[in-house]
Amino acid sequence: MDFSNKVLRSIPNSIFDLYKPVSRWESFYLRTRWRLCPFELIESCIPLKGRILDFGCGYGMLSNFLAERSSERSVVGIDMNSTRMEVASRSVFNRKNIHFHLGDVGSLNVSSFGAAVMTDVLHHIRDDQVEILLRKIHRCLGDDGLLAILDVDRKPFWKFCITYSIDSLLNPKDRLWYRPLGRLEEILKSSGFQTGKIIRADRGLPLADVLLLCRKS
Ligand SMILES: C[S@@+](CC[C@H](N)C(=O)[O-])C[C@H]1O[C@@H](n2cnc3c(N)ncnc32)[C@H](O)[C@@H]1O
Repeated sequence: MDFSNKVLRSIPNSIFDLYKPVSRWESFYLRTRWRLCPFELIESCIPLKGRILDFGCGYGMLSNFLAERSSERSVVGIDMNSTRMEVASRSVFNRKNIHFHLGDVGSLNVSSFGAAVMTDVLHHIRDDQVEILLRKIHRCLGDDGLLAILDVDRKPFWKFCITYSIDSLLNPKDRLWYRPLGRLEEILKSSGFQTGKIIRADRGLPLADVLLLCRKS
């Protein structure tokens, strides 16, 4: 396994400092999440300009990273967890190219985003709600809009078991709905998306992460 520095790179100070002061739990969560989630890979797939939606943004680390990497991005992070949104909102200071809103699918207005990201969100959403959410995101995207989804495949099974254990530790109160990759592709198709690249995003770690890059079809 490749446990190189690149894989387990710690959160950049420029991002972590935005959250200070943080509680012990927040510090543990932010540091662990950064090491486990391929935020750098995801960021590299997102256009450098335009409005970007980070749906289910949690503490907003990816939103902050996207906004930091290009001032020509205007990033909107939305999450229904008020505690996380409070922490995320505190990280904004006086920057103009990032905004956080407390809300869920109902608070998505039809507006033109160039791209949307959802990292480890879909498996927190019930089957009957997933398609409703994806259709809404479809309407929020401009004609050639990109949707980048990071989620958990059920294969290989041993990697899935490890990912599930970590997810349950970091999100102890949440019910989780994991779907096989093929099922996720079906749902995306019926919601109007065409799946382009599918990237195994585990970076050599024992995780079952996949990154799907989709366009409006
Ligand atoms: C595992 S966390 C991932 C957070 C963030 N995307 C990240 O990568 O660190 C999943 C997030 O999705 C949010 N979420 C789940 N269902 C949601 C919904 N219907 N509307 C808004 N946020 C939702 C949760 O509140 C939680 O913060």
